[in-house]
Amino acid sequence: MMKASAQDLLDWYDRGARRLPWRGTADPYRIWISEVMLQQTTVAAVGPRYARFLARFPDVAALAAAEWAELAEEWAGLGYYARARNLHAAARAIMAGAIPATVEGWRALPGIGPYTAAAIGAIALGAPVVPMDGNVERVVARLHAVEAPLPGARAELARLGQLFTTQPAMRARPGDFAQALFDLGATICTPRNPACALCPWREACRGFALGLAPSLPRKAPK
Ligand code: ADE
Repeated sequence: MMKASAQDLLDWYDRGARRLPWRGTADPYRIWISEVMLQQTTVAAVGPRYARFLARFPDVAALAAAEWAELAEEWAGLGYYARARNLHAAARAIMAGAIPATVEGWRALPGIGPYTAAAIGAIALGAPVVPMDGNVERVVARLHAVEAPLPGARAELARLGQLFTTQPAMRARPGDFAQALFDLGATICTPRNPACALCPWREACRGFALGLAPSLPRKAPK
C-alpha cells in the first residue's frame, strides 16, 4: 500500500478548495476568531457572523477595549458563551503582553485547547502541526484502518496524524494542508456515505481497501 501523499492532498485542494471567508488571510487574530467560532458552530453559520464580528472588533486592541456587554451582544445566537468570555480574557492578556508566536504560546491562553492552538499554529504561523478535530480523526482512522474505538483511540490517531509532518509538501504549506484535511472530511470523507470514488487518497486508504471506511471510526458503547 502506498502512503498517503501530502502533495496529492494539496493538489486536490488547489483544484477545488472551498472559498471560506477566513481563507486568504494569515492574520493570527482573524484565524483565532474563526477557529473559536468553528469550535461549536457550523461553517455555514459562522460565515456571516465572522465578517460581522471583525467589522465590529477589527483587531485584538478593539476586542480587548470592548465592554463585555458589547461582546455578548455580538455573540448572541452563537451559543457557548464561555467562548466569548475566553476571547475577551485572552484579548486582554495579549494586550498586556504580546500576540503569541508559537503553538505553546497560544495554548496558554484561555479558551485555546490543543486543537485550536494547532489550527492557529498551522494556518497563521506556518507551524508543522496537524490539528486533530473530529473530521481529521475520521480521515486518519480510515486511512490507517484503525479499528480501536474512540475515545480510546484518540492518542493513536493523533500520533498517526502527526506522521504527515515528515513530508516536505506538508511542511511547505501546513495551513493549507490542515484546511485541505478539513475540506476532505467535510466533502468526501464524510461520516456517512463517504465519496471514496472521488478521494485523492483512495489508493492509499487501508480502510477503503478493506471495505471498512464507512464504518470507521468506531465508537465505544456508552
Ligand atoms: N473547521 C475548523 N476550522 C476550519 C477551517 N479553517 N476551515 C474549515 N472548517 C474548519
